[in-house]
Amino acid sequence: MMSSPDLQLRVGTAPCDVFVRPEGLAEIGPLLAERVPVGKLLLVTDSNVGPLYAEAAVGSLRAAGFAVKMHTIAAGEASKCLAVAQKIYEQLAGWALARDGVVVALGGGVVSDLAGFIAATWMRGIRFAICPTTLEADVDACLGGKTAVNLPGGKNLVGAFHQPRMILVDPTCLGTLDERDIRAGLAESIKHGLIVDAEFARWHEAQAEAVLARAPAALAELVVRNLRIKAEIVEADAHEQRGRRILLNFGHTVGHAIEDACAYALRHGECVALGMLAAARLSANLGLLPTEGVDTIARLLTLYGLPTQVPAELVDRCAPDHLLSIIARDKKASGGKVHFVLLEEIGRTRVTPDVPTDAVREVCASVLAPAE
Ligand SMILES: NC(=O)c1ccc[n+]([C@@H]2O[C@H](COP(=O)([O-])OP(=O)(O)OC[C@H]3O[C@@H](n4cnc5c(N)ncnc54)[C@H](O)[C@@H]3O)[C@@H](O)[C@H]2O)c1
Ligand SMILES: [Zn+2]
Repeated sequence: MMSSPDLQLRVGTAPCDVFVRPEGLAEIGPLLAERVPVGKLLLVTDSNVGPLYAEAAVGSLRAAGFAVKMHTIAAGEASKCLAVAQKIYEQLAGWALARDGVVVALGGGVVSDLAGFIAATWMRGIRFAICPTTLEADVDACLGGKTAVNLPGGKNLVGAFHQPRMILVDPTCLGTLDERDIRAGLAESIKHGLIVDAEFARWHEAQAEAVLARAPAALAELVVRNLRIKAEIVEADAHEQRGRRILLNFGHTVGHAIEDACAYALRHGECVALGMLAAARLSANLGLLPTEGVDTIARLLTLYGLPTQVPAELVDRCAPDHLLSIIARDKKASGGKVHFVLLEEIGRTRVTPDVPTDAVREVCASVLAPAE
């Protein structure tokens, strides 16, 4: 009998089984063999994750009968590009991996976005699985079927929707992750609570110590709850058409602008933290969210060591008018309207297309540290 997943996501007709299991990497072979044809399999990983975790995964996959080859990319966002994709296509061509072949991503969001893009496009789409190893990937990037590479002109400009057949989260991998990356990943987790689940937002407050100490039980619960929330949102809007998925953009309008302006000197999650605080203040200034809500969010971010102000040395890159121009550019790229995701209370959102520019400028300024 097939082992039953902790969570099953169904997007259209394609099922995706999600397992959250400490030491789960050692079980990947049998779990995957129940779900995809056992044959050629390319494991894509990066130069940090490969040396730490590939052996466990590859051993288990080979024992289950897969013929495994690896492709190790240089760690970092720069590898999420067409040139690296081309190298992987060449390896697949040289090995004659056919339509029944499988791609497995082992790594953070960079690896899963790139490997997913390969799986989506190789032979017009082959089977795919993800073993996320960062908190960002565990709670966000692994789920939803978005795959992409960057172009010099912008992030994620080339991509496809392609659902993995299986996601296997082994929370023990988080033990080796940088403290800063853990905190950055927690921003997306806090976001999930703030947009749809007030109780989960409070859970973050109560469990901060255990989560930051990376207690396995707390991390496993955190991951499962995040994936449930994201799955529920994504299932309702698999291809980003019916609107519900826009809620996931909470904190990302101003957040992306800060990320772009700082040329990625801040982590994505750190920018999202700043963007969530800006969006919360905007909600309060427009009379939607009581100011205690803003205080609660600021407290939560501080509790998790996330920034509430752009650091002084980056402030001159984030002049409010510059952030506004980036938001306006993104708006143009997406067809003309900035839909702000605002909060009516913690756990309840309102999406608004018409927010006055002055109100946005004011909250952009509010997340900048005072000039030195
Ligand atoms: N597809 C989506 O829906 C989605 C959602 C969110 C983010 N993303 C994408 O994800 C990417 C960011 O992902 P990320 O934050 O995971 O970055 P990442 O993949 O670059 O990983 C961050 C760093 O941690 C290292 N690392 C990974 N796992 C480790 C481990 N267990 N121990 C030690 N080091 C480890 C990596 O080598 C890297 O240096 C961006 O490209 C973003 O666009 C995609
Ligand atoms: Zn994000």
